[in-house]
Amino acid sequence: MKPTAYDSTDLITQEVLKRYESTPDPRLREIMLSLIRHLHAFAKDVKLTSPEWLAAMQLLEETGTWCAPGRNEFIIFSDALGLSMLTVTQDYQRPEGATEPTLLGPFLVEGAPKFEMGQDISRGAQGVPLYSHGRVVDGQGQPVKGAVIDVWHSDDRGIYDVQDHFETNGAWARGQLNTGEDGRFSFWSVMPVDYPIPQDGTAIRMIHATTGESWRPAHLHFRIVAPNLRPLVTHLFDRQSERLDRDAVFGVRPSLVADFVRHAGGAAPDGRNMDGPYCTLEHTFVMAPA
Ligand code: BEZ
Ligand code: FE
Repeated sequence: MKPTAYDSTDLITQEVLKRYESTPDPRLREIMLSLIRHLHAFAKDVKLTSPEWLAAMQLLEETGTWCAPGRNEFIIFSDALGLSMLTVTQDYQRPEGATEPTLLGPFLVEGAPKFEMGQDISRGAQGVPLYSHGRVVDGQGQPVKGAVIDVWHSDDRGIYDVQDHFETNGAWARGQLNTGEDGRFSFWSVMPVDYPIPQDGTAIRMIHATTGESWRPAHLHFRIVAPNLRPLVTHLFDRQSERLDRDAVFGVRPSLVADFVRHAGGAAPDGRNMDGPYCTLEHTFVMAPA
């Protein structure tokens, strides 16, 4: 009797690859054929059982239920498995001197509240006041005017607005600013702190069952978009964090570790008189050509 497609696992793989060879788009064909080869090889390698695969499917189903605007649980899996950093790193041809990108994370919200330069984006978030300022320039050091900067970060409890009754409380420690003619930006907010990735979803179950490493070092997130320049998604990490070498999602790059300078009080760079502790951060972002 002629062998059928299901007589051996190798025949199954061949049959499936043959079918997907007809994918019209060349890039999609390349991706699908490679994905099938690697997925099948993985399942054979670990001798994946049907109950194990069904459990994985159920985990993915549950993962979908944790997703909403401002929280993408699939991104947390991608981040924790290092795939986000891998794609960011191989995809971003970075000219010498351009700011390093890092992962986006799950908490970007499109259409964040807009602020004028120098305003306070914390909207009442708790924490030590932080004044951040600096410039956005291109590879020639020329100021980039009208760049759109999205900033978002945690409060001093280590949570984000999207983890804190976002539907009713709205955005805090999150905002959008435009650089001026001189490429400068500035805003007040509060100091971010180290925080564990969300403890209530599915990705944390994988982490608890494997590495146990769920903390991120304190950071601010930035997304900077400007005409004719490559959009930049990056973070600035607090040099004083003790977890810079143990980021749960592998996002730290030495060039993104910055000095969040602690002050006891006194006049801030914008002239505001602070009667208690506050911090300052100064940074220049260098954007790569589109
Ligand atoms: C974040 O940086 O906001 C983040 C990244 C990965 C998982 C959870 C949070
Ligand atoms: Fe974050």
